[in-house]
Amino acid sequence: EKGGWSSFMAKEISEEPEAVANTVLGRVDDGQVVLRELADVDDMLKDIDRIVVIGCGTAAYSGMLGKYAIEKWARVPVEVELSHEFRYREPVLNARTLVISISQSGETMDTLMAVKYAIANGARTLSICNTQGATIARESDAVVYTHAGPEVAVASTKAFVAQITALYLFGLHLARVRGTLDPTVAALQLAELQGIPAKIAKVLKNGAEITQLAKWMSDSRAVLFLGRHVGYPVALEGALKLKELAYIHAEGFAAGELKHGPIALIEPGQPVFVVVPSPRDPNSLHAKVVSNIQEIRARGARILAIAEEGDVAVLPFADEVIRIPLAAPLFEPLLTVIPLQLFAMELATAKGLDVDQPRNLAKSVTVE
Ligand code: M6R
Repeated sequence: EKGGWSSFMAKEISEEPEAVANTVLGRVDDGQVVLRELADVDDMLKDIDRIVVIGCGTAAYSGMLGKYAIEKWARVPVEVELSHEFRYREPVLNARTLVISISQSGETMDTLMAVKYAIANGARTLSICNTQGATIARESDAVVYTHAGPEVAVASTKAFVAQITALYLFGLHLARVRGTLDPTVAALQLAELQGIPAKIAKVLKNGAEITQLAKWMSDSRAVLFLGRHVGYPVALEGALKLKELAYIHAEGFAAGELKHGPIALIEPGQPVFVVVPSPRDPNSLHAKVVSNIQEIRARGARILAIAEEGDVAVLPFADEVIRIPLAAPLFEPLLTVIPLQLFAMELATAKGLDVDQPRNLAKSVTVE
């Protein structure tokens, strides 16, 4: 039940700190990640030479984030593909390919068909599911469950942060099994992850300012989202939430792609959410994104920056700044996505829409 919340979505967003914490719970041994459910496949994990992550919608975006972490820590090449695109293009698969399927429900037909195809074509399979005993989990060689608890609202929120958590845990597990990461560095990454629930709780406390933002934007015809590196899947997810809940045309872009086309969309008053990387980012992506902000601002865009506490570089150019606590770069999505989820929910509410049951959508898509 909703337990006093105005919607299941509001309740589920409030449960995000626990969704992350519960997914980590019981999977740490002596400062290292140990996924006991993978004991039978650890030898296979040593042997794979490629990973393909598949999923649909929000699950595919968490998969994109998993790629950054798994490649960085375990040094195995990772591709991410939408399940339905993967299934019908005769992908190259063999016994050294691990196909990781991500699905909250574990019943999404597009993903199930892709898993069955992978098995029939000799690949190894692992699934990340939120529903115990789901069909996709049963079909796979191994399963890592997310412990987000039941997700009722059609728009996925707590399952998304739990999926990112599970993928990061898997990345650390894989790195340990393959010996690719210094245990001290691995322990630091794990400690970062364990610190995330308290930081999400902090972001949730600033919900009121987002409600105000949503009010003035309720008659916007289109909203754009920009991000770079791990901020890019977050931009895609922010746009998806807005489409499905508020029925507003929304588009996420990789910030580096702006001058290759999307900047032509910018006209005076156009709202643009920008997920700003930390100024501490070792690749200096912060400066690049700030310069993107300047470019679109000069063309009249209205900038809503999601930036780290203390990042003053964005202040002269942003109309609104939503602050997130400091986190290591890979972990920022677990914080930056929260204001975007809240924003979509509040904007839909401001338009008088049903946030739990958007039109034309089902919670579980069991047809191809
Ligand atoms: O149950 P699944 O994770 O397999 O569902 C995948 C998508 O259908 C789902 O994430 C969908 O995009 C959500 N409505 C997004 O909020």
